[in-house]
Amino acid sequence: MSKILAAVAWPYANGPRHIGHVSGFGVPSDVFSRYMRMAGHDVLMVSGTDEHGTAIQVQADKEGLTPQQTADKYHRVIAEDLTGLGLSYDLYTRTTTCNHARVVQELFRALHANGYVVPHTQLGAISPSTGRTLADRYIEGTCPICGYEAARGDQCDNCGNQLDPIDLINPRSRINGETPKFVETEHFFLDLPSLAEALSAWLATRRDWRPNVMNFSLQLLKDLKQRPITRDLDWGIRIPLDGWRDNPMKSIYVWFDAVIGYLSASIEWASRKGEPEAWRQWWQNPEALSYYFMGKDNITFHSVIWPGILLGANGEGAKGGTPSAFGKLDLPTEIVSSEFLTMSGSKFSTSRSTVIYVRDFLREFGPDALRYFIAVAGPENQDTDFTWDEFVRRTNAELANEWGNLVNRSVSMAFKNNGAVPAATDLRDVDSDLLKLSQGGFVKVGELLGRAKFKQAIGEAMRVVAAANRYLSDTEPWKLKDDPARRGTVLHTALQVVQDANTLLTPFLPHAAQKVHETLGGTGVWAAQPSMVEVSEEGNEDYPILTGDYASEQARWESTPIEAGRPLAKPSPLFAKLDESLGETGPEWAPVNPA
Ligand code: MF3
Ligand code: ZN
Repeated sequence: MSKILAAVAWPYANGPRHIGHVSGFGVPSDVFSRYMRMAGHDVLMVSGTDEHGTAIQVQADKEGLTPQQTADKYHRVIAEDLTGLGLSYDLYTRTTTCNHARVVQELFRALHANGYVVPHTQLGAISPSTGRTLADRYIEGTCPICGYEAARGDQCDNCGNQLDPIDLINPRSRINGETPKFVETEHFFLDLPSLAEALSAWLATRRDWRPNVMNFSLQLLKDLKQRPITRDLDWGIRIPLDGWRDNPMKSIYVWFDAVIGYLSASIEWASRKGEPEAWRQWWQNPEALSYYFMGKDNITFHSVIWPGILLGANGEGAKGGTPSAFGKLDLPTEIVSSEFLTMSGSKFSTSRSTVIYVRDFLREFGPDALRYFIAVAGPENQDTDFTWDEFVRRTNAELANEWGNLVNRSVSMAFKNNGAVPAATDLRDVDSDLLKLSQGGFVKVGELLGRAKFKQAIGEAMRVVAAANRYLSDTEPWKLKDDPARRGTVLHTALQVVQDANTLLTPFLPHAAQKVHETLGGTGVWAAQPSMVEVSEEGNEDYPILTGDYASEQARWESTPIEAGRPLAKPSPLFAKLDESLGETGPEWAPVNPA
């Protein structure tokens, strides 16, 4: 049994989540964590809403809200999206807590004390017409890296690279279009060059990373520069140094603060549990493993910046130093990144893309159809387009006709003939072959899930389902009226395999799995779900966190014998079949070919 940290990228508090967001960080991290728990490991799955910085300020300006109001609003909306999808966070929190600020400031302080954070005078933008500081978010220009024309001063949304406003080609103010004037301003920089050697040494010890992540990271290491980690911005965490902490116009850069969330959320989880030191088992333990889940635009921050912060705060770079107040902290074991899910809506559509929001999707189709689609057809290894045609086809052909139908016909026949699981007598080869196949699934699928190969894993699980359907067609139990013993054996075998397949599919389809568990006469919680709990902090409004009691769920990664005589429930369809026309039109709330 290992301690496993599942560190899930923090969504920005700037709007509800769409299916592209959750295909990157959400579903993969949850499938992985659920599998690891079932396999007996001690998982700590943490994340929260990323509430500081430009993205939130821009949204606040758009809605006429303060950044805090915007963060409050979307933190709640996002927490609902993630709960609805059944993402089993041990703690999903937010970056505007006191705990988070305290942890961020301590790491900043340690890096500064160790010499890995250094001050520099930089050029910052001011508006020539007003003479006031022009925050990065108000500057727009052409990205020097990819040529995208509407890149922001802090980051290019097209290629995902971090930028400095001074790097933009043809910079202009988003307020009035004027060309900003650049004047000197002081900022703190993370001295990545002095961490480069330690980063390379660490990267050289990494195994099993997806090749794109490894190659990208090695490339970054070739050309490490100092990076500013403070901004001319009021919305953020204060700089914890004398002469700076009271300056309301300077704050810590949002990405520096957000990646530290993995640590601060682990600490918060431990203190909420009443065991304030418990987080250390996942962070200061040579045996512990940590997996970070994200979309590909986040790789830089997790494979270089975050490990760099950790090395510097540990005092492990070229300048040495002493560890922060938290002690030496472990670096990531693996970075699991996804490519992008685009949403053109239809294979046949040439129109601009529509945004498909998670909450709309859940309302109409429920969580497991989306989880299935992302696992089986999502952007695991390459950019992938979501189309309604493909969603309808997969849902109908695979979830409804293959899996739903297998459960339905096996349980219906046994329910009708016996009302309970019938006994198996003499097993024939055809029976034991199928049983062997489904038992073998645990090793195969488990091995793939442990290496975050979700597509292959669900493919193997569905192969067991397909084999069981073929078995029923071959053995034709509905024709065995005159041979109840043989019929009982066949149905017993089928039900055993339904139970095994349900276990194999539980990480992917936890809601359906609970239902199948009950249909097979099981009681209690098979697959636990997260719950939203309201908490408060120092006079602020209540806000939700996500947490859950996953240790008490029954699901285990093993084949358990289904006992003869166990009463069955009358099955109801597991997945509703979708109307074929949906593939062409899309739903009303995300129509194909929007006018
Ligand atoms: N908010 C960022 C995004 O949506 C992700 C932050 S991940 C973190 O791209 F680690 F920095 F928190
Ligand atoms: Zn770019």
